[in-house]
Amino acid sequence: MMGRFSGKTVLITGSAGGLGRAYALAFAREGAHLVLADLKLDGLDETKALVELAGGTASIHQVDLGVEAEIHAFATAVLGLHDRLDVLINNAGLHAGEIARGFFGLGMAKWQHFFAVNTIGPMLLAEAVRPALKAARGLIINKSSMASYTPATAYGITKASLNVFTHAMATQFGADQIRCVGIAPGLMQTEAARAGVADETWERLKGLQSVQRQGTAEDIANLGVFLASDEGSFVNNQTILCDGNNQMRGFRF
Ligand SMILES: NC(=O)c1ccc[n+]([C@@H]2O[C@H](COP(=O)([O-])OP(=O)(O)OC[C@H]3O[C@@H](n4cnc5c(N)ncnc54)[C@H](O)[C@@H]3O)[C@@H](O)[C@H]2O)c1
Repeated sequence: MMGRFSGKTVLITGSAGGLGRAYALAFAREGAHLVLADLKLDGLDETKALVELAGGTASIHQVDLGVEAEIHAFATAVLGLHDRLDVLINNAGLHAGEIARGFFGLGMAKWQHFFAVNTIGPMLLAEAVRPALKAARGLIINKSSMASYTPATAYGITKASLNVFTHAMATQFGADQIRCVGIAPGLMQTEAARAGVADETWERLKGLQSVQRQGTAEDIANLGVFLASDEGSFVNNQTILCDGNNQMRGFRF
């Protein structure tokens, strides 16, 4: 399929559903070839089928991005398939359950797991595929959250730390003309977010926004496409909030 990303390759983690799938479809419609990674093979199969239905192509990879050896094996496979990687979207993340309920009583092992998946894994993956990003003068997008701005939970803390990584990565990867930006969504209507948030909370949070509608996965995917396009190519070293101006940062469910 011809489009602004014809001949380009985009790697999207956490693409078994939700925002990751929305990125996959948005980039597929622009002609990109997709490399899709997640823990969930069924969801990856579904995303690949939807990408193909939209006229695109994709490879799928089941990988635990919280485990260093798996990140390296995956990166080796990607480098074996692709000399150039135009965009890496570090979208996979833990966001539901204990990680979103505060931060006391978690213990070292849980903290390490949360940080491994949400904060350190994205940097390790970018480091491991750097040669292909360098060849394309590519872009890294780290997936943050509006919860990173007033972190009140382990989730917000991992995402605030990811924002710091985004700054450091823009500088360090910048030596190879690789850009690094973050996208911080507000509450967006993905299946996972719908399952974790009561209907009245959706309405209450919408009431706090200046943009009076619910955020969608496509709002985030469209921002990703813009940042990766020629039109967005002077944007670097920023985490961009996309939340309809939600006034209640650090909100609780
Ligand atoms: N939907 C929202 O409102 C919202 C808001 C702010 C930030 N985010 C962030 O956007 C990203 C996607 O969120 P979503 O709403 O689409 O949720 P989602 O649960 O559908 O997507 C997260 C994906 O990450 C995958 N994943 C988790 N741990 C993994 C691991 N160790 N290895 C590989 N894959 C793993 C999951 O299997 C899942 O498919 C997350 O990083 C989330 O924190 C979402």
